[in-house]
Amino acid sequence: MSRSGSGLERTVHVELGERSYPIVIGFDTVAKLGAEVARRTGASRAMVVTVPAVAKRHGPAVMRSLREAGIRARRFEVPDGDRTKSLRQAAKLYEAFLDAGADRATAVIALGGGVVGDLAGFVAATLLRGLPFVQVPTTVLAMVDASVGGKTGVNLPRGKNLVGAFHQPKLVWIDASLLRTLPPRQRAAGSAEVVKHAAIRDAALFARLEGELERFLDLDPEVLVPVLERNCEIKAEVVAEDEREAGTRMLLNFGHTLGHAVEALKRYRGVLHGEAVAMGMVFAARRSEELGLAPEGTAPRLAELLVRAGLPTELPAFPRRAYLGALRVDKKRREGEIRFIALREIGRAEVVPLTPERILPPRAR
Ligand SMILES: NC(=O)c1ccc[n+]([C@@H]2O[C@H](COP(=O)([O-])OP(=O)(O)OC[C@H]3O[C@@H](n4cnc5c(N)ncnc54)[C@H](O)[C@@H]3O)[C@@H](O)[C@H]2O)c1
Ligand SMILES: [Zn+2]
Repeated sequence: MSRSGSGLERTVHVELGERSYPIVIGFDTVAKLGAEVARRTGASRAMVVTVPAVAKRHGPAVMRSLREAGIRARRFEVPDGDRTKSLRQAAKLYEAFLDAGADRATAVIALGGGVVGDLAGFVAATLLRGLPFVQVPTTVLAMVDASVGGKTGVNLPRGKNLVGAFHQPKLVWIDASLLRTLPPRQRAAGSAEVVKHAAIRDAALFARLEGELERFLDLDPEVLVPVLERNCEIKAEVVAEDEREAGTRMLLNFGHTLGHAVEALKRYRGVLHGEAVAMGMVFAARRSEELGLAPEGTAPRLAELLVRAGLPTELPAFPRRAYLGALRVDKKRREGEIRFIALREIGRAEVVPLTPERILPPRAR
């Protein structure tokens, strides 16, 4: 991976041999999207998948940009919400795309958050054995996390993300100005993953956030663009390293063991993923201190930054046995132990296999 660019426009090059692709990050750049899609995919036709809230605000500018580049573009709206990531919805898109004349040279473009990216990416991965795919993420979470790494997929009634495929995009186009219409609570939730990347991997980024978090949340391009750039680099680096050194990718799970437990106990209602991850990260940092893995003061420093982002840091008061029950269904469990992600210090994390009882000793929480 390497970077290039000048002024406020940056490119992170994800090096994956033949499947290499650029992540282009800028502000107010949507007018240039069409030309780049044409250049990267060679497509003369595009199927744009989006949700109503995003279509209303950003659909016209995206469609204009594609058409001005000579691409015949059609727009497909799917309902908002994680339930849209379903085989039923994928099947509807297969039919709609084929009715609209999709062939192997048709690009699929995801315009939206992680839900749209995962669903449209899954359709692109599977229809006609794979169509060129472009991500235009519109949430903080999708910009720094979901659009990087090539994972696509849908949910089954029994669980999330159980069906999927790896399908690398030809292009990730991040126009950070699209975040202007994203509700503040969603912006804050996505920033939990930004803090996570800094906490596990980059102490300098963490310090930068301590200095400039408000400017990031207020979408000041001078802060937003380089911070998004660094986050895409971190996610891309970790994903690339994992192909050689098994396990590095697991560090991205920092805060997610307890975070997923909170989401499950709340039945995915009333708490956003990033909010649950914020609580889980503070819990994990406190446990890291108690286990003597991280120096004292690590958890308060992390909590302070998350509070400034408007995120919750205390786990909801479910009984300990409820948490233990939720931890025991953790997908990443092996021989009774969960690969818990501990912090060694701000900027460095480590995998520590622990039993659920050790993660949550009787008094702690
Ligand atoms: N593939 C991966 O590697 C990966 C990684 C992390 C998460 N995910 C997936 O991502 C999904 C969550 O993504 P998300 O947090 O982006 O949620 P989301 O896609 O549901 O978007 C959140 C909300 O913001 C609205 N929205 C999006 N962009 C907007 C904009 N610019 N202006 C106004 N409103 C806007 C949406 O309509 C939605 O209501 C989950 O399904 C998760 O499994 C995937
Ligand atoms: Zn997450």
